[in-house]
Amino acid sequence: MSTLIRGGTVVTSELTYRADVYCEGGLIKAIGENLDVPSNAEIVDAGGQYVMPGGIDPHTHMQLPFMGTVASEDFYTGTAAALAGGTTQIIDFVIPDPEESIMDAYKKWRGWAEKSVADYSFHVAITWWDDTVHRDMGILAEQEGINSFKHFMAYKNAIMVSDEMMLASFNRCRELGAVATVHAENGEMVYYLQQEMLKKGITGPEGHPQSRPPEVEGEAANRAIRTAQLLDTPVYIVHVSCKESLEAITRARLEGQRVFGEVLAGHLLIDDSVYYNEDFEYAAAHVMSPPFRSKEHQKELWRGLQSGNLQTTATDHCCFCAPQKAAGRNDFTQIPNGTSGVEDRMAVLWHHGVNSGKLTMNEFVKVTSTNAAQIFNIHPKKGSISVGADADIVVWDPAMSRTISVKTHHQNIDFNIFEGMEVQGGPSHTISQGNVVYKDGQLNVVRGAGRFIKRPTFNTHFDALKIRREQNAPRQVQRAPIAAE
Ligand code: URP
Ligand code: ZN
Ligand code: ZN
Repeated sequence: MSTLIRGGTVVTSELTYRADVYCEGGLIKAIGENLDVPSNAEIVDAGGQYVMPGGIDPHTHMQLPFMGTVASEDFYTGTAAALAGGTTQIIDFVIPDPEESIMDAYKKWRGWAEKSVADYSFHVAITWWDDTVHRDMGILAEQEGINSFKHFMAYKNAIMVSDEMMLASFNRCRELGAVATVHAENGEMVYYLQQEMLKKGITGPEGHPQSRPPEVEGEAANRAIRTAQLLDTPVYIVHVSCKESLEAITRARLEGQRVFGEVLAGHLLIDDSVYYNEDFEYAAAHVMSPPFRSKEHQKELWRGLQSGNLQTTATDHCCFCAPQKAAGRNDFTQIPNGTSGVEDRMAVLWHHGVNSGKLTMNEFVKVTSTNAAQIFNIHPKKGSISVGADADIVVWDPAMSRTISVKTHHQNIDFNIFEGMEVQGGPSHTISQGNVVYKDGQLNVVRGAGRFIKRPTFNTHFDALKIRREQNAPRQVQRAPIAAE
């Protein structure tokens, strides 16, 4: 099967130019004008449209077992919704229970993901520590193509890591050439503030943001970054939501540290007033961690994206429906944390980023696709329009207008955090592995067609870092023994 995308303007992270793109065998085979292609190639008319690398959402949680329930969106529905929005790859998370073998958890998630319709990879969370975890991180990195390990600094009494575990795991990441990724919230502070709220009789969703203020995030981001600095480990802070953690990232980057920051579409566009809505279901539907922040923080996050101090955009897509959120009707700490967005990220970023002039089209490609591919080492196979790359492509119609709604979305959740938002610009076609899987509003996907994408570690690069560490090794002074009297 071959496909010719004809008449469009190619937009990559670097270039904008007129060319046709020919795909065959799942790969981009040729780019140019007047290409000589087989007569039976499927033709995609991209006239007046942009041809861009498919989106990569580096932070999703399909069918995650969490807070006593399981996320409603599974790998089949979730990757289909992603394709409908122009996202052709997700990076999801394996999250072992404390004491659960990380290899067993990895195998379980691989099984769940077999029904995916788009390509996927995994970060693996480190939720506990012993010698087997140390060993299995090596197997995952060297044999299974896992080059990033996640650390939750929040969720006390569940999956939270201690500083001791974080040190051990970051150290192992460095040895392996893997990236340490971090959910930065101080779980002890959150727990303390939650108890304070409940004592004061604040039991509704408004207690959620009040028990997770920006200080909680800033402290944890800074601690993770300094830990990574000490150990010479690259660190990626997920869902940066406030100026305090952005400042910690910016400062470290200015000091030359290898630190990356991710921002969620939701944190850029939704403010904390949602938690004060009188309708419990509405407020609870927005409960996620870190919480949505004030408009001031949103402005800072946009600046972070524009300046390049935040490199990727994601969704933290983790869906819970109203009956699941109802578990916390009388106690906000029991509301399952998570919101949706995998289908809407590209459109809301285009509309509020590119149409508003905050981002160029090339920057849009960087923050929705190429930077994630580079940071997680799957570029140029992913995140690029180049000969030999995977043919994961979105044909973007800048004239398309629509209103986002739960009534029309493909996501398996009864709420849409962007409900009623009018956006201009969206995918007319999504192409995955060279096949047109979404066209003019219709999905045409095959259960199980998505492939697990291995992500090699960064060992070559890390050889240089090892040398630097040896040069900076602690100094030991050889002293002559004290002579006996
Ligand atoms: O509230 C959230 N973000 N739920 C998913 C788990 C996490 O913290 O990423
Ligand atoms: Zn998180
Ligand atoms: Zn998450």
